[in-house]
Amino acid sequence: MSEKTLIMVSSITGNTLMVAQAIHSAYPNSTLMSTEDALKHPSAIESAQQILIGFWCDKGGLPPALAETLPRIHDKTLGIFCTMGGDPESERARAWFKRECSVIVGTDRNNVLKETFLCQGKIDPALIEKMKQLPGYKETPETRARRERASTHPDERDLQEAVRTFASFF
Ligand SMILES: Cc1cc2nc3c(=O)[nH]c(=O)nc-3n(C[C@H](O)[C@H](O)[C@H](O)COP(=O)(O)O)c2cc1C
Repeated sequence: MSEKTLIMVSSITGNTLMVAQAIHSAYPNSTLMSTEDALKHPSAIESAQQILIGFWCDKGGLPPALAETLPRIHDKTLGIFCTMGGDPESERARAWFKRECSVIVGTDRNNVLKETFLCQGKIDPALIEKMKQLPGYKETPETRARRERASTHPDERDLQEAVRTFASFF
């Protein structure tokens, strides 16, 4: 497809941005923009027929800037990608991602969801240190193992898979 596709990404520690940049590099006729910039320039959203929306799991919800753009996202063909600290293969994570995708697509905005991609994203070491200071924080071997597994993601394989997933948009 030749229409211009907007890649609109939310990212605070860089993981989801890495995925967005990999997609943008593979398909340079796309436009890459942060969700914050898209909010400032809503014409970027309005003029795109296809949008790839990237976000990260923010305390089990959508990043606020993305939630704010949703009313503007209507009549679009969508792809959604996400990074999260937890295990993306788990039932819980899959169900969570499915729910968040439904929220993004909406029921009355005439959007069509074409492809989705979820992978793990390392947790910012500064955040881990902060969490350790919280009263009642308890580290279990499971949480440590999960964090260690996350620490290498998104890796090259994740990036390639994301690029493959959204090939039909370009
Ligand atoms: C404030 C904050 C809250 C987070 N909450 C969750 C969470 O509830 N569940 C989860 O799996 N990961 C959580 N994470 C981990 C991020 O989703 C993960 O590191 C993600 O890859 C960050 O994406 P980014 O680097 O693009 O900002 C949280 C990270 C931060 C900084």
